[in-house]
Formats: sequence, C-alpha cells, structure tokens
Amino acid sequence: MKTKYWFILAVGVIGFLSCAPKSMKTVADSKQFLFGVAVRPSDLLDPKDSKLLQDNFNILVAENIMKLQYLRPTESFWNWSDPDKLVEFAQKNNMKLRGHTFVWHNQNPPFINNLTDKEKALSVLQDTINQVLTRYKGKFYEYDVCNEVIDDNGILRNSVWMKTIGSEYIDIAFKTAREADPSVKLILNDYNNEYAGTTKGDAFYNLVKDLVTRKVPIDGVGFQLHVLAEQPVNEKALRANIQRFRDLGLSVSFTEVDVRIKLPVTPEKEAAQQKVYLDLLRIALEEKVSSFVLWGYTDLYSWIPGTFAGYGSAHPFDRNKAPKPVYELMKKTLADYKR
Ligand code: G3I
Repeated sequence: MKTKYWFILAVGVIGFLSCAPKSMKTVADSKQFLFGVAVRPSDLLDPKDSKLLQDNFNILVAENIMKLQYLRPTESFWNWSDPDKLVEFAQKNNMKLRGHTFVWHNQNPPFINNLTDKEKALSVLQDTINQVLTRYKGKFYEYDVCNEVIDDNGILRNSVWMKTIGSEYIDIAFKTAREADPSVKLILNDYNNEYAGTTKGDAFYNLVKDLVTRKVPIDGVGFQLHVLAEQPVNEKALRANIQRFRDLGLSVSFTEVDVRIKLPVTPEKEAAQQKVYLDLLRIALEEKVSSFVLWGYTDLYSWIPGTFAGYGSAHPFDRNKAPKPVYELMKKTLADYKR
C-alpha cells in the first residue's frame, strides 16, 4: 500500500512539474541558446532583481562597470569589486559572461583621455587587457575587445587610441587579448553595422575582412542592434551580412538589443515593436548566432530616454519589472523553435 501511495505521489509531482510554466532560462538552456542581458551592480544585490536574472538569462554583461572609466579610474587603481561580484554571480548561477569593453572612445578615465605619447598609450592598452584577462582567465565566453571603432561616415574613429597609436591599435588589442586568454572569443562590436549594403555595415565588414586576411586573432563580430520599432527589420540584408561574416570563419552575436518606441506608446507601435523583437530573435535562432543579449531588461533603468529624447518603452519588461506581452511571445518563439 505504502509503495502505491508513493508511486501516485511521484507521478503527480512529475506531472505537475512538467506542466508548470518553464522559466525563460530553462527554455534557453534547453535550446542551448545564449540569451542574456546587460546588468547593473544593484541587479545582483536586490533579491527580487537577482531572482529575475536567475529565472531569465544564461549570459550576462556589465552595462557599465567593466568600462575603463569605472574599472581603471586612475592608472594605479583598479576597481575589481563589482566585476568580481558579477563573475561570482554568473558562476554560481551557471551563466556565461560577455566582457564589455577594452577599447572605446567613450567612458574612459581622464588618464586615458589625456594620453598623447604613443609608447605610453601602448603600454596602458596592453597592461589593461593583460590585467583583466589574467585575473578572469577562462571566465568570459566572449569579450568586446574593441567597441565602435568605425564612425558614422564609415571611417576609423579618431579616438584617443587612434590619435596616439594609429590604426594598428586594433591588431595590438586583439593579439594582446589572445595571448592573455586563449579561451575567450574575441569580438569586434559596433552599432549600425548589421546590414550588408549600408555605408557603415560595409565599412565594418571590410575592416573585419582585412583583420582576418592579416591573421589578426578575431573570433567574431557583435551587432549591437539598438533599433527602432518604426523601422522593420531588413531580413535580407541582415541575413546576408551574417552569412558573409560566417564565410570569413567568424561568429556573429547580437550584443545590445533594444527596440525603442517614439512616445507616446500606442497599440500599433507596440505591435511594430513586437514584430522587430520577434524577427530578431527568430533570425538569431535560425542563423545560430553566438549570443542574443538585451541591453537592459526594464524600462525603469533604461539608457534610451537620456540619449534619444522622445523615445522610450524599449525593453521587454515594464517599469515595474513585469514582462510585457512581447517577452511572453519571445519565450514562446524560443520554446517552439526546433533546432
Ligand atoms: O556614474 C555617474 C553617476 O555618478 C552620476 O550620478 C550619474 C548622473 O547622471 O551619471 C552616472 O554616469 C552615467 C553612466 O551611464 C552610469 O549610469 C552617465 O551619465 C551615462 O552617460 C552613462 O550612460 C551609459 C552610456 O553607455 C554611455 O555612453 C549607459 O548607461 C549605457 O547603457 C551605454 O551603453 C552603451 C554601450 O556601452 C555601447 N553601445 C551603446 C550603448 C548605449 O549608449
């Protein structure tokens, strides 16, 4: 008798568990799809926020704290505390990590912005990469070695690195990163680079092709994909672009996805936003992109209103951190996807 009851109970529990709604992370893990988000330190500390991360994402990236302004505010001071906590959180929760970023024209500390001497700039660049990738050797899945090196006219941006070192700073950054941690995938990341046949998209491709031809150790490219609900995804140009990077032997990641709406939000605009999110996710799945990362999950902490006046509601969770209908549809798209 006793055994029979146990059996009935076990069947009941298994039945309940198999019908219970699966979390996005469970679904993403089951599809071996890296679905992630950019985080702030408080996301890990607040119990509710950290639970939300654990339930939804299997790859994380720091929105700001690994940029040099915060990580290395002076030449001799390293702010390891927040990145250490991020690495620990990801490991504990079986999540991967993206690194963002070493070389950028923005969010650098004054001692970097004020560099003028080539040898000094080289030593700061190499030392920064070495220190980070030695401390976190084997801990990052992908790293944005360089970010936004092409400007809006399709030429190499006149950043502090370009001015002091010259265009070879890109080769040097990638080579230094490869030597410091051979296991991390080295990425060149940018915005407005997702479509073949555009000025920036083609300039970005030509730069990457040149790096590959000269055997600079690059593993993949990142399309940030900060896009607008009012602009439908150009599927043909996106797929063509992904394919040509794949033909170079590189991976493609969608690294900073958000879809901003011109305020006020209307049902029509939300429908357009849903289509963009779902198209991007479907294409990412079908094209087997390396990772799909949201640039923040909630409208509460969004970077959008501060940069694009009159735009908002860009993220899949609302200001109360509740999933919007678009998020449930994304989850369904992922759950229904047959590898
Ligand atoms: O840290 C200061 C804080 O001390 C001060 O009180 C506060 C007052 O405004 O500002 C804080 O700094 C802000 C920082 O984010 C941290 O919150 C800066 O003003 C703000 O400009 C900065 O914005 C970041 C932006 O990069 C800078 O360009 C956004 O959070 C971040 O989401 C955004 O991320 C970039 C990616 O790295 C690269 N691709 C584009 C993407 C969006 O711009």
